[in-house]
Amino acid sequence: MAHLIGIASGKGGVGKTTMTINLAIALQKSGLSTLVLDADLGLANAQLMLGVKPTYTISDLISGDLTLDEIEHNCYGGVGLIPGASGKEGLTNLSTATLTDLINLLKASPKQIVLLDTAAGISEQNMQLLSACDSKLIIFLDEPSSIADAYGVLKIQQSKTGLDSTFLVPNKVDDQSEGKQLFSKMNGLCMSFLSEPTQYVGSIRRDPKVLTSVRSRSPLAKQYPESLAWHDIRLIAGQLAQSLTLN
Ligand SMILES: Nc1ncnc2c1ncn2[C@@H]1O[C@H](COP(=O)(O)OP(=O)(O)O)[C@@H](O)[C@H]1O
Ligand SMILES: [Mg+2]
Repeated sequence: MAHLIGIASGKGGVGKTTMTINLAIALQKSGLSTLVLDADLGLANAQLMLGVKPTYTISDLISGDLTLDEIEHNCYGGVGLIPGASGKEGLTNLSTATLTDLINLLKASPKQIVLLDTAAGISEQNMQLLSACDSKLIIFLDEPSSIADAYGVLKIQQSKTGLDSTFLVPNKVDDQSEGKQLFSKMNGLCMSFLSEPTQYVGSIRRDPKVLTSVRSRSPLAKQYPESLAWHDIRLIAGQLAQSLTLN
């Protein structure tokens, strides 16, 4: 069975897709076969960051026309992508049964790891997808709205599944010590108000190369292998791989 890792944040624009794509490449490079699901099902954008134009999307899977295998698009470094669909409102409100089927299909994938790049917000669909994941990465910034929204996600997830295998990832920090402090602050909130700790696998530094890479639709690993953000994401991938119990 594949190990599902959900990437979430509450607030949009904090680095989920950047993290998902580059983490997938880092895990694949370390020898773990990895699939990415653009779980912002109705507003696809992972494919833009990967610089690919897939023919089929998750919509063809949900409609029953194609299999998971048939819609998987092979991307840089051997990472597989299950593309989201663009502007499909119907995909933002799937039934619990459809979502459960989707999760089961992903778990049955021959890949070792499936990363779910979830949508912003705390919609029921989003929270159901995230709670079905074996591990969760919560990306957040040192900004009140990002901290509040990430905490909102943690609170919901704690009530659904508890906070086991929940990793907090501070993004756009100046250095690792600032990131660790930010983690401690957020983890302190979880300990005080949710009575459970989270885990730390490292932070991602602020790096202008991220925007250049997004604009040129080419992953950091490919375009800027010397960049700070790619360096940090690779370290996180290593830490994460060590802490996962893979089948
Ligand atoms: N470590 C970073 N350093 C600098 N900019 C970043 C970093 N991570 C993300 N960004 C910026 O934030 C924008 C949003 O990132 P994205 O991954 O699309 O967020 P989300 O998927 O959460 O909406 C990117 O286009 C990029 O410009
Ligand atoms: Mg995104």
